[in-house]
Amino acid sequence: MNNSDIIDFYYFSGTGNTLLVVKEMKKTFETKDITTNMFKIEESNPNKINPNHTIGLGFPVAELSTYKFVWEFIKSLPKTEGTEIFMVDTLAGFSGGIVGPVRRIIGKKGYQPIGACEIVMPPNIFYIEDEEVCEKKVKKGLKKARKYADALIKGNSHWGRVPILSDAIYYTSLVGLKVTETNLNQKLLSLNPDFHRCSKCGICYRLCPVDNIKIDEEQYPEHLNHCQYCLRCTSFCPKKAIPCPINYKGNTYRAIKAKELLN
Ligand SMILES: Cc1cc2nc3c(=O)[nH]c(=O)nc-3n(C[C@H](O)[C@H](O)[C@H](O)COP(=O)(O)O)c2cc1C
Repeated sequence: MNNSDIIDFYYFSGTGNTLLVVKEMKKTFETKDITTNMFKIEESNPNKINPNHTIGLGFPVAELSTYKFVWEFIKSLPKTEGTEIFMVDTLAGFSGGIVGPVRRIIGKKGYQPIGACEIVMPPNIFYIEDEEVCEKKVKKGLKKARKYADALIKGNSHWGRVPILSDAIYYTSLVGLKVTETNLNQKLLSLNPDFHRCSKCGICYRLCPVDNIKIDEEQYPEHLNHCQYCLRCTSFCPKKAIPCPINYKGNTYRAIKAKELLN
């Protein structure tokens, strides 16, 4: 890093993996007296970023790239003259449609890309692994996060790009994200609560990053039709009252406690 000893780290985390990684990187930066401010993407206005600070982006991979609202944040970043920027994503195994396309977008806006890293963490979708396996993966992932933060500090990191393939995967991902938005998909894969179990605590409502949950007259949560499937509501429901139709046996994953996301 050259132009700043302050990092503004914009992140989103659905079930906690990305938050663990971002926090680990922040710790590493701060051992070298680099102030690291953390901002939630879902609560941030991209136009208000400080171009005199180094910008960090952290988010999970979804459908081979990332969530639509994360894309919107990245695409809305203002133009700059050489602001340093780095990214980190967490994933279960494979993305392909994110590192190259993000570099292209921020490059056109005048940023200086200084590093990109993808960190494998436990899957939070389809098949949830045993606790022991998850713990090992998290440990390995956090080690990689420390190493990456160290490389950023020393100026040894890089932001690679596989031109044609990554763009092809990116466009495939955009199609997938569009399908996710359709009414049919929203109906078929609705994360509606089981009212017999729901304690009306409102945690799902407070955690939803895209305001897809409203509270009805009887104080029960009601899912609307623009879910982006970050899985926060189902994963952090204290009563396990929101069944997850996408996951094997409805199992859910979370890497942290709900209060760490609510802070
Ligand atoms: C809707 C959805 C789509 C996902 N798509 C992918 C994917 O395409 N490739 C992959 O490797 N992991 C995928 N994952 C897994 C997550 O990227 C991974 O578990 C990530 O670490 C979760 O981070 P978080 O806990 O910060 O939300 C997906 C997860 C969800 C919920």
